Amino acid sequence: MRLLRLSLINFRNYLNAEAEFHPGVNLFIGANAQGKTNILEACHLLATGRSHRTYKDLEMIRWGSESYHIKGLVQKRSYNELLELHVNNQRKKIVKINGQTQAKVASLLGRLAIVFFAPEHMELVKGDPSIRRRYLDMVISQISPSYLHNLSQYQRVLQQKNALLKEEKPDLALLDIYNRQLSELSNSIIIKRNEIINTLELFAARKQKELNSQEELKFNYSSSFKIENNVFSEELLYQQLKRREKDELFRGTSLLGPHRDDFLIFINEKNARYYASQGQQRSIVLSLKMAEALLVEREIEEKPVIILDDVLSELDRDRQQLLISSLQGFNQTFISSTYLPPVLSELRGRVFEVEKGKITLRNET
Ligand SMILES: Nc1ncnc2c1ncn2[C@@H]1O[C@H](COP(=O)(O)OP(=O)(O)O)[C@@H](O)[C@H]1O
Ligand SMILES: [Mg+2]
Repeated sequence: MRLLRLSLINFRNYLNAEAEFHPGVNLFIGANAQGKTNILEACHLLATGRSHRTYKDLEMIRWGSESYHIKGLVQKRSYNELLELHVNNQRKKIVKINGQTQAKVASLLGRLAIVFFAPEHMELVKGDPSIRRRYLDMVISQISPSYLHNLSQYQRVLQQKNALLKEEKPDLALLDIYNRQLSELSNSIIIKRNEIINTLELFAARKQKELNSQEELKFNYSSSFKIENNVFSEELLYQQLKRREKDELFRGTSLLGPHRDDFLIFINEKNARYYASQGQQRSIVLSLKMAEALLVEREIEEKPVIILDDVLSELDRDRQQLLISSLQGFNQTFISSTYLPPVLSELRGRVFEVEKGKITLRNET
């Protein structure tokens, strides 16, 4: 799949900008703070309904304006689709697909498939479990609407349960109903996370070998529930919740569930969060991101658009080279950088200059 055209109105530092993209590589070159990431963020919004760097929708409306508008034309294997996202300063979000207003923002999901790689992703290895959890949820949500549905249901019930746990005299029958609902939702969420982690591990381990044949990469789902030999069920999870009930009432918060889980990364059998060197950390993130691209392609049977926001400068020449040659297997790529990276000089594509919220086509190679 490809993003053919993008238009931005009152989005971040763009008053009114439009660009037509190359089916291959699109390079955005410009000094810092000119609007490179803003373009890529707009792509992320069209793909997921959310920004990759903020939860605050209003922050993205151009200062002094009342609403922003993003429009993108997406080319699929057999048809084109026009995606629009409109957000006003009342936080109202409107999504249109081919001009038709959609009931839910989530209707956007999966229509423009992207794999977004930003310098922040380097945190995936060393950062808190919440970073890996959010990452995993984002990846799965893009390919599975039912997962996103379960996840938001889970978060809603969890909030209700937490509010109940904080009450002076909680209704225990209601607590039990919440625990039943949560064990059902947790079960589906954990099954899906496990499945995706296994697939990511398979693809990432292969990529890791290409980077450095000696290193063994393994992923493991780590649940706050006790799960032995990967055996669990709704009933088993419910029993564990039941057993922790007193504890939870005492502490006034939920102690078990997918909202406390993590996925562990092992490099040569050691937990990468604590033991990976900086070089290993970069390789792992690179392998993981490439695995994500392969996963998305397998799931949706289309090649996702690959977006690299300012990451080349984070990598040494060998890793840059490997990344670029992996990209040859995909259709379209968006790359931002403050300089024209030498590894890209032979690729076919378009170079755009980005300056003070203006996108100018510089040349086509
Ligand atoms: N809501 C907004 N309205 C106007 N300008 C904004 C808004 N949000 C961010 N900016 C501006 O966008 C620029 C940063 O753009 P960004 O795409 O992150 O830069 P870079 O080219 O370094 O990736 C900054 O100049 C910032 O002031
Ligand atoms: Mg940037």
